[in-house]
Amino acid sequence: MDWITRSETDADHARIREINLAAFPTSHEADLVEALRADPAAWLPGLSWLAQSADGTLTGFALFTRCHVDDAPALALGPCAVLPEAQRLGAGGAAIRAGLEAAREMGENLVLVLGHAEYYPRFGFTPASGFGIRPPFEVEDRYMMALALDPTRPVPKGVIRYPAAFGV
Ligand SMILES: CC(C)(COP(=O)(O)OP(=O)(O)OC[C@H]1O[C@@H](n2cnc3c(N)ncnc32)[C@H](O)[C@@H]1OP(=O)(O)O)[C@@H](O)C(=O)NCCC(=O)NCCS
Repeated sequence: MDWITRSETDADHARIREINLAAFPTSHEADLVEALRADPAAWLPGLSWLAQSADGTLTGFALFTRCHVDDAPALALGPCAVLPEAQRLGAGGAAIRAGLEAAREMGENLVLVLGHAEYYPRFGFTPASGFGIRPPFEVEDRYMMALALDPTRPVPKGVIRYPAAFGV
C-alpha cells in the first residue's frame, strides 16, 4: 500500500489520540503523547509523524521527542501506533521512516527506541549497548535500541534520560 506521510497539525490531536487508544490495550500511550506535547523541553515541532491512506484516513503515527544520553541531546522514538485493522501494511514503517528523515534534516543524529526487537532493526536500529548507551531501568538488552542517522558523527555514551512524562 502507498502511504502519504506528513507531520502533525493542531487539527490532528484528537485523531492521534484515537490511533493510540486503538493500537494499545490502555490509554497509557495516548496520555503519554499528550503529556509530551505539553512539555516544551520534550516536544520538537515537526517530529510527530502520520501516515495517511490514499482515501485520506490517518492510520499510522510515530513520535520523536527530546531525550538525553547523560547531558547530550538525542531523540526518543515512541509511541509508534497503527490502527489494528491496518497493521502490517506499511503505515508504521512509513511514519517512522518519514520521521527519521525529518530528524536527519533537522540535524539530529542519535535516535533511541525501546520496543519490538524484531521490528526496529529494519530501520537500522541495533542494541544501544553496542554504542555504550544504557537505559535507566532493567530491560533485556535487545529491546533497547539505537540508531545513528549519520554514522560519521560521534555518538555519546552514557545513561538515557527520558522526558519526565515517560515516568522513568
Ligand atoms: C508495531 C507497529 C507500530 C508496526 O506498524 P505496522 O504498520 O503494523 O508495521 P509495518 O507494516 O510497517 O511493518 C510490518 C512488519 O512489521 C512486523 N511487525 C508488526 N508488528 C510487529 C510486532 N508487534 N512485533 C514484531 N514485528 C512486528 C510485521 O511482522 C511485518 O514484518 P514483515 O515486513 O517482515 O512481514 C503496529 O503494528 C502497532 O501499532 N502495533 C501495536 C502497538 C505497538 O506495539 N506499538 C509499538 C510499541 S514498541
